[in-house]
Amino acid sequence: MDSASPRSICPATQPVLRENWYVVAFAHEVDAERPLLRYCCGERIALFRTAAGEPVALQDRCPHRGSPLSLGKIVEDALQCPYHGFRYAASGRCVRVPSQAAILPELAVHAYPVIEKGGFVWLWPGAPETADPALLPDCGEFGLDTPGWSAKPYLMLEIKSNYALLFENLLDTSHISFLHGTALDGGRMASSSFKLESEGKTVRLIRELKGDTPTPSNTNQYGLHGVTTFDRRLESIAYLPNLHIIRNTFTFPDRPGHAPHVRINVMPITPSRTNEHYQFLTMTSSYPETHPVELIEGMRAVLEEDRVVLEAIQGLYDEGGPDLPEWSVNADVAGLRARRKLAELAV
Ligand code: FES
Ligand SMILES: [Fe+2]
Repeated sequence: MDSASPRSICPATQPVLRENWYVVAFAHEVDAERPLLRYCCGERIALFRTAAGEPVALQDRCPHRGSPLSLGKIVEDALQCPYHGFRYAASGRCVRVPSQAAILPELAVHAYPVIEKGGFVWLWPGAPETADPALLPDCGEFGLDTPGWSAKPYLMLEIKSNYALLFENLLDTSHISFLHGTALDGGRMASSSFKLESEGKTVRLIRELKGDTPTPSNTNQYGLHGVTTFDRRLESIAYLPNLHIIRNTFTFPDRPGHAPHVRINVMPITPSRTNEHYQFLTMTSSYPETHPVELIEGMRAVLEEDRVVLEAIQGLYDEGGPDLPEWSVNADVAGLRARRKLAELAV
């Protein structure tokens, strides 16, 4: 059983898995006005958009004298270095050296494969020839671009911990009733029964609550205004190593004919620098969001509470080393499964 296994894999030092697509930005953050600096799997990247609307991702270091290109500007679909004005096209090749006409073809920066999908810019940090668009997640399954559903880009958090700790946090629904008070549930989540499903790179934890009642804040979170009692199904699904989904489905047994409320939190997870990562969040809902400001501020507060704990846990591992002991209980089974899968994917 997972909970009895020794802690031989440290969640604070999981290696990155480069041969995958990772979200580096919301689509609207990448424009033709100014470059955007992001990190992915330890690499520093300058993002911009051509006049035709294509996203571009270049290695953020000019090979001339080492200036970051993200400090430069976009000129004629190329990125111009701020130091001596060398320009790099979307292919990565240098197309202008102001001080001379001849340009060696080897003068270039790495150009990363990028694809825009589901309102996100996905980047492939691995070998470009292995970048297969078929490996991108099916965003339609998550309510993105679903007619009649609301979906907006919401939050991006920069978290100073290993990305594996966030997957474990999101699969660990027993913390919701404690770390987040009454923000997401009325206190019964931690003791509700659950089941675990796992195949391939997916780990899915499912909890069901019958006959629960709304709290003031989860009324705003899930559009429960006027509801007195509901049944709730919570699915927390890790699509390792780059995406996590939380799908909440509320049904209303005492209101026959009332359509279920489905809310999906779509959360791409991207290792940025060593033991740091980005958490993106877009929320999709099958019902109109009547209180969008309260909704987003409520989620921001919740994710900040997680960020503080994850960074503190990382800090203890950094001080104490990867062999610090831990003691698991039954509720940790999904997180442990994800931990083991990530370690297996790394070999
Ligand atoms: S450092 Fe970039 S042009 Fe000189
Ligand atoms: Fe949390």
